[in-house]
This record gives sequence, structure tokens and C-alpha cells, in this order.
Amino acid sequence: MQKYLVIGDPIGHSRSPGMQNAAFRACGLGEPYGIRRITPEELPEFFEFARKNLCGVNLTVPHKIHAAELADELTPRAAQCGSVNTLIIKDNVILGDSTDGVGLERALTYNFKTSLAGKKILFCGAGGAARATAVHLAQCGTTEVSFINRTLSKAEELAALCQKIVPELICRCTTPDNENSARELLANADFLIQATSLGLKPEDPPPLPLEWFSANMKLKIFDTIYHQTPLQKYAGTMNIACAGGKEMLIQQGAESFTCWTGIPAPLDAMRDGFDHGSPGK
Ligand code: ATR
Repeated sequence: MQKYLVIGDPIGHSRSPGMQNAAFRACGLGEPYGIRRITPEELPEFFEFARKNLCGVNLTVPHKIHAAELADELTPRAAQCGSVNTLIIKDNVILGDSTDGVGLERALTYNFKTSLAGKKILFCGAGGAARATAVHLAQCGTTEVSFINRTLSKAEELAALCQKIVPELICRCTTPDNENSARELLANADFLIQATSLGLKPEDPPPLPLEWFSANMKLKIFDTIYHQTPLQKYAGTMNIACAGGKEMLIQQGAESFTCWTGIPAPLDAMRDGFDHGSPGK
């Protein structure tokens, strides 16, 4: 009987079943994790099903904001960002949590072997992926969390949220059209977090003009998209440190696993399951 599910719409591509079942198996807990497509309209009804039948859920696009409204209770970190990617269900109570922020923090540390203390973070994008992670990075001892986004108001909203929680944080916002200020932010940053959806489709333009990146920049690029995008390829040719989003997916899933089971996540088993696991049923 499946007691854990990943839901989203679309969802067929998800690596979560392979990764989570590898973790459960490694801990002698069988393969209790499945996959289900749930449309936005079906989400309230799904919550009632989950309350009675499940122990845990991972949620992906497009459910993370609506889930924060439907959960009975929120963890402080989910309440701060208003985004939920994990449900923890116990005694008929649905607790909404957000493990994306800590997932990104650990992925940055793992990929680039450096702490975030004193670092300047620049997000490209201010949609769901940035919302779920920026507030957490703001609380990792970083000195700046800034945003370049096509829609300036969304960048400003996220910056205000970060600054409300960490008043001394420097938060600057601009759009890619404002070339001078965008390039200045880029030159100043230690990490660029690519958090737009650009790169998901092969015909997408790069999120920022590639000629803005030069070989001697200090910044490291983390692209939240896990397959190789033109930006990641270009960074490789320019010798700029760059990582795709795979480790973030693994780390957010690992944190969900620990929230459900109380067991430290078997990360290597999860990495192997991510790469080689079979899609869920
Ligand atoms: P996700 O949940 O994947 O983050 P989202 O919430 O729709 O999806 O956010 C998509 C992000 O990609 C946003 O930052 C969006 O910019 P806007 O806030 O201006 O919409 C960005 N994005 C998507 N398509 C884009 C495009 N063609 N050009 C520039 N930015 C784009």
C-alpha cells in the first residue's frame, strides 16, 4: 500500500519515486512511494484523501502556493515563504513544510564546497522557484540577496519578504532590460541562482544574454533546471563554475524523507535512485 506520493501536473517526468523508494529500501522500509497526476481543481479533494490514507506527500508545480493555503498547519519555514512542497500527515492533521530552501543551500555547499556566510546571492527569476528558496538563503549568513526578473514588481515583492525577515540584508532589484544595473549585479555576485523557467524547452532563449558572462568572473552559477541548458553549456566553455539543479532535487527530497521518518537520509542511495530508479506507478 502506497503511503507516500508525489503529485503535480504534469508529473510523469518526476524522479522522486526512484529517489525516495531508493531511500526507503536502503532503510529496510520497502517501496511505499508512488506518483499521481493531480490537477489544480483536484487539489482540495486530494487533501482529504491524503488526510485519511497517506503519511507524506511531495508537491510540485503548480501546487506549492495553493497547498500552503490548504494545509491545516505550516512549519515556520513554509509560513515564511508561503510555499509548500512537503506534507507530513499524522493523526489526521496535515502539516505543510517547505524543504526547497534548505535543499538549495545544501546543493550550493555540496556543488561548490563553500559556505554561504558573507556571500552575495543573485537570483535570476522571481517566480515559484525563487519564492520557495530566497527567504531561506537570506537566513544563511548571506549579506545580499538580489533579483533580476522580467517583471520588476515580483522581484520587489520577494526582496521585501527577505528584508522583512533579515532587516540588515542588502536586496536590490532590476530587470534584464536595464542592462547597466543587471550587469553590475552580476559582476558583484558570488552566486547566480538561475530560477526562471527558461531552459526547460529547447527553443527557450537564455535567461540573460550570454555575452554578459566572461571567463574571469568570480561568480558561480547554479541552474535550478537539472538537465543541461545552453546557459550551463556556455558556462562550461567559459570556465565559470556551474552546476545544474540535480543536487537540489536530491537534497529537498532527502529533507522530506527525514521529516517523514526521523531517519537521516541515505544520500548516496538517493543519488543512485535519482539516476537509475524506475518511474513510479
Ligand atoms: P516556476 O514555478 O517554475 O518558478 P513561475 O512561477 O511561472 O514558474 O516563474 C517563472 C519565472 O521565469 C519567472 O521569474 C518568470 O518571469 P516573470 O516573473 O516576469 O513572469 C520567468 N520567465 C518565464 N518566461 C520568461 C521569459 N520568456 N522571459 C523572461 N523571464 C521569463
